[in-house]
Amino acid sequence: MNRTQAEKLLLAAVKCNPGLWGEHSRTAAYIAETIADACDDLDGESAFIMGLLHDIGRKFGVSGLKHVVDGYAYMTELGEEGIAKICLTHSFNNRKLNEYIGRIDIPVQQQEWLSSYLKVVQYDDYDRLIQLCDALAGNGHVMKLEERMLDVKKRYGYYPQAKWDTNCKLKEYFERKTGWNLYELLQKETWHL
Ligand SMILES: [Fe+2]
Repeated sequence: MNRTQAEKLLLAAVKCNPGLWGEHSRTAAYIAETIADACDDLDGESAFIMGLLHDIGRKFGVSGLKHVVDGYAYMTELGEEGIAKICLTHSFNNRKLNEYIGRIDIPVQQQEWLSSYLKVVQYDDYDRLIQLCDALAGNGHVMKLEERMLDVKKRYGYYPQAKWDTNCKLKEYFERKTGWNLYELLQKETWHL
């Protein structure tokens, strides 16, 4: 899959379920590509596509945890295993199903499958990158990590402390890896869609 094909998939998906998640996805794609380009061993275009399609499961309607498994199934069906993995891992920076913020709207059997998948799956830098991008991407602009997490906390009423702490560590990890202050690298104050 190349970026043009990915953009087409996102456009079609947002038509099926209109919402700000399209802007959020494009912002995550920008963040992912910019950070990846600043790392010697990451590919910018792959990161862009993963950022763009991490929430593609929202194509199938307004949902909570369901968007994660819907995205996985959809990308697997298209033969895109790498992106399918991102659809699952982006919401679980500590590999724990019970840290999902939002509605648990999948059957118990699927929850059990997801839980065991998260226990065995190997996370690489792309998984870590998209987890961070999700936590920095507003709907068309780059957000301060704490600002975005507080916004989520306000909307959902809670934010697991361990998930919060891991996001902060991910930011530190990519700042070490790129040698950049990420807000400067991403031109947080001036960049927008
Ligand atoms: Fe998501």
